[in-house]
Amino acid sequence: MLEVDLAGVKLRNPIVIASGILGISRGLFLRLDREGAGAVTTKSVTLRPRSGNPLPNIVELEFGLVNSMGIPNPGIELMCEEIRSAVPHMSVPIIGSIAPTSAEEAKTMASLLVESGASAVEVNTSCPNVQDIGINLINKSVELVRSIDREVDVPILVKVTPHVQDVPSFVRTLSEAGADGFTAVNTLKAMVIDVDLLRPVLGGVVGGLSGPAVRPVAVRFIYEIRKTLPGAAIIGTGGVENWRDAAEMIMAGADAVGIGTALRRGLKVINEVTDGLRSFLIERGLTLDDIRGVVP
Ligand code: DHB
Repeated sequence: MLEVDLAGVKLRNPIVIASGILGISRGLFLRLDREGAGAVTTKSVTLRPRSGNPLPNIVELEFGLVNSMGIPNPGIELMCEEIRSAVPHMSVPIIGSIAPTSAEEAKTMASLLVESGASAVEVNTSCPNVQDIGINLINKSVELVRSIDREVDVPILVKVTPHVQDVPSFVRTLSEAGADGFTAVNTLKAMVIDVDLLRPVLGGVVGGLSGPAVRPVAVRFIYEIRKTLPGAAIIGTGGVENWRDAAEMIMAGADAVGIGTALRRGLKVINEVTDGLRSFLIERGLTLDDIRGVVP
């Protein structure tokens, strides 16, 4: 009863492992599948391997995490090898996340991911931690999406930064360029200072805020995207810790729900959320379709 159609990709349940969390190796893809995820998103990959920012690269606050990872990843070739060896053993789709610096790179990486077995491509143009890859590319998103759209025939999802002001015009323009859906939202650019040491906590100085603090922002983005584009696929992500948070995102209009920061409590969170959603629907005699976007 939890099956979802995400722009034509079939998910057994709406829970998608968000990018940047665990989607980095064959072993982890298979483990997340076994633990009940509906889909797994890879860490954002770049054309060449990156080692990321200096440590410390993560700080836990009472309402979420701030990370300054800097897109550490093995590069597109190694990521594709991991995907290729995992896919024949997986019962859920892999969403390949790319962090390109140009339209040329976007097209190359998207087609390599799809050849390796990724079922959809997520375009991350909103990493808060890397100058030439991240938030500065918001205005280039259209060009990137257009070039990927000409190259691959799987769904293209754009990861939306909460720094976008005019959500309706942003998503409408991207949809016209070929985006099939949106993952909303990415982290919010943030900073934490150690007052004893009189200096920033994070090695990268600034970072991206995730977790419960960003959830109401994500809910508002989902709502605005759904109102603007009733037919777009939406993965709502940002601070989902339990089934009620997931239900809230679906009621705002999400097809599926990303989980990232909550996995710091262990992979059992995945089944807790799907079990809770299922019980809620059964008790109320409702389906996911009944609650999706019910908010007027
Ligand atoms: C990275 C961090 C983020 O918070 C994000 O949203 C995307 C990428 C990173 O630095 O790897």
